[in-house]
Amino acid sequence: MAKGKRKQFFSVQDAREFYLCIDDLLQSEAVQSMKKFTQHGTTSTFDHCIVVAFRSFLFCKKFHLDYKAAARGGLLHDLFLYDWHDKQTRSKLHGFYHPGIALKNAENSFSLTDKEREIIKKHMWPLTVIPPTCREAYIISYYDKVCTSREVVVEWGGALLKAFNLLKTTKSETRDKI
Ligand SMILES: [Fe+2]
Ligand SMILES: [Fe+2]
Repeated sequence: MAKGKRKQFFSVQDAREFYLCIDDLLQSEAVQSMKKFTQHGTTSTFDHCIVVAFRSFLFCKKFHLDYKAAARGGLLHDLFLYDWHDKQTRSKLHGFYHPGIALKNAENSFSLTDKEREIIKKHMWPLTVIPPTCREAYIISYYDKVCTSREVVVEWGGALLKAFNLLKTTKSETRDKI
């Protein structure tokens, strides 16, 4: 591979098919409102859900699983619609309860299949003890953790670099004064 050239993990056709699976959801106010909330660092809940949904969709398509359910359930899996960083507004034990809240919100706005319901409800497994009953829900649960770890690494990495820069500045300022 030529230096500096990144491997393309998906085709334009993949992106088109993914879009067709979630087109109606994307038009909704509920899904659009996820853009207002931060998931981790600089990643919005909407961006997090899109990436989890797309990666799960690609995996399911490759292995002949229900990629439409993966795309739709993946997009709706964190439709809890509040700022989970805010102790005043967030649900107590957010980690345990937000899948149920997301499912309720999704059911209020869309007509869901059993598989989509299962994906949303079980995406925090194994934290929420009862295991998923379909393979697609395991895939979303896996990519949710992969994407979350990445977002957290970027957030913490950025904060650590800022702290290092601050330390460097403080050190050289102290040195200049001596
Ligand atoms: Fe979640
Ligand atoms: Fe998530």
